Amino acid sequence: MSDQQRPGDRADAFVFTPRKNGQSQSVSDELAAWMGTGWADTEVRDLDPIEQAPHTARRRAALSAAFPGERLVVPAGQLVTRSNDTEYPFRAATDYAYLTGDTADGGCLVLSPNAGGGHDALLYLKPRSDRENGEFWLGQYGELWTGRRNSLQEASVLFGVPTADVRTLPEDLRTGTATLRAVRGHDEDVDALVDEVRGGADTEARAKSARLDEELGVELADHRLVKDEWEVAQLQRAVDATVLGFNDVVAALPQAQDTSERFVEGTFFLRARVEGNDVGYGTIAASGPNATTLHWTRNDGPVREGDLLLLDAGVETTTLYTADVTRTMPVSGTFTDLQRKVYDLVYAAQEAGIAAVAPGRAFGDFHRASQRVLAEGLVEWGLLEGPVERVLDLGLQRRYTLHGTGHMLGLDVHDCAVARQEAHLYGELEAGMVLTVEPGLYFQPDDLTVPEELRGTGVRIEDDVLVTEQGRTVMSAGLPRSSAEVEAWLAERMPRA
Ligand code: GLY
Ligand code: MN
Ligand code: MN
Repeated sequence: MSDQQRPGDRADAFVFTPRKNGQSQSVSDELAAWMGTGWADTEVRDLDPIEQAPHTARRRAALSAAFPGERLVVPAGQLVTRSNDTEYPFRAATDYAYLTGDTADGGCLVLSPNAGGGHDALLYLKPRSDRENGEFWLGQYGELWTGRRNSLQEASVLFGVPTADVRTLPEDLRTGTATLRAVRGHDEDVDALVDEVRGGADTEARAKSARLDEELGVELADHRLVKDEWEVAQLQRAVDATVLGFNDVVAALPQAQDTSERFVEGTFFLRARVEGNDVGYGTIAASGPNATTLHWTRNDGPVREGDLLLLDAGVETTTLYTADVTRTMPVSGTFTDLQRKVYDLVYAAQEAGIAAVAPGRAFGDFHRASQRVLAEGLVEWGLLEGPVERVLDLGLQRRYTLHGTGHMLGLDVHDCAVARQEAHLYGELEAGMVLTVEPGLYFQPDDLTVPEELRGTGVRIEDDVLVTEQGRTVMSAGLPRSSAEVEAWLAERMPRA
């Protein structure tokens, strides 16, 4: 390692991690000096703030009002090494993206209390690569390796927040006496720094700090429960791209039959990368009996004529909002009578669930409505012994329904999971909330309580629903839902041999 590659003190390590690989182990003084010169000024000076900036400002103001006099630390997260100089794909921490609109790695938002009773926001970011110390070409994350970053000045215009070099974060956090709260678990360096600044290593102090941090996470999840209009538009974008991805899969179904569920996953993934940032969660491409495994993401099974294919997938936008949609389709293009019978019951349960989504309704209502329809059907088919009230009281239908009927959706696929129970699980729906309605029936291949012909059948139908003042809008209505509509969709879009 040459002098130019030395990372310097700990603060510098935020930005300058030397490359761990390479055939050229040393740099001559001449080369180092030459590499530091001859570069044009590429500063961009005519930028406008991102569209989201007024919204992130409002969100920061709401957070400020919830924690007067306290210092709030919200990191983006850092790249995580997979091996040597290879990293896992990076995805900015949800709360950081929500409060800044930034999606890059290594940043940290700090809200510091000011004399006016509010907070001043400062966004600590990785600066442009330093052309003098060689980081831009010798550093692990140098710009010639990973791409140009915003300059601090550019970022402050884009995000509408003053910016600072992230290498000054340690020094700044060590200054000041305000109570500190941090969003934890995304950036080991920031977590360690926060611990160091707080001091107090005894058990009681640690428990108090953990409580402070947890409360910050809960508050942010509460704030994210109701989406602003910009977020709703982003979610619609995610859903629309997801609809395109499902159409792509149907068009590729014959090829998937020659390969495997991976072909389905890959086909959807292409759309996700072209239209958005990524998939919002691991795609579930489950054919035949694999559809009875709720989170089947191995996707290495065959796609066979005569089987059902359950595809649960969502595009995540470049702004990190995700859809979460499931369709179950007959690979042949036509449901068998038995498949249709299962599908139609799940569809009826979903209809009942969607109808129970409205402002003022309890969050649990749509789940209860769907479960009732499923329990009634299972009793009617003789799989469960009635009366239905007893089945529901004891939850016996859950042997075949397995999971809850839906969840909040937003920046995270299972959004706002840590929100206060009284605002979420035991709360009421409000206009602006977005949730999934996704009942399913799953008859395991080895379940001796069901007739043999049903074993290995799994059906889920999942849509993304916006609560409106008037009731609801099904955001994913661009995809067919009923069995007849699904068959018409396949007839129209699936190429025939
Ligand atoms: N894709 C996971 C879920 O539907 O909740
Ligand atoms: Mn879901
Ligand atoms: Mn899903």
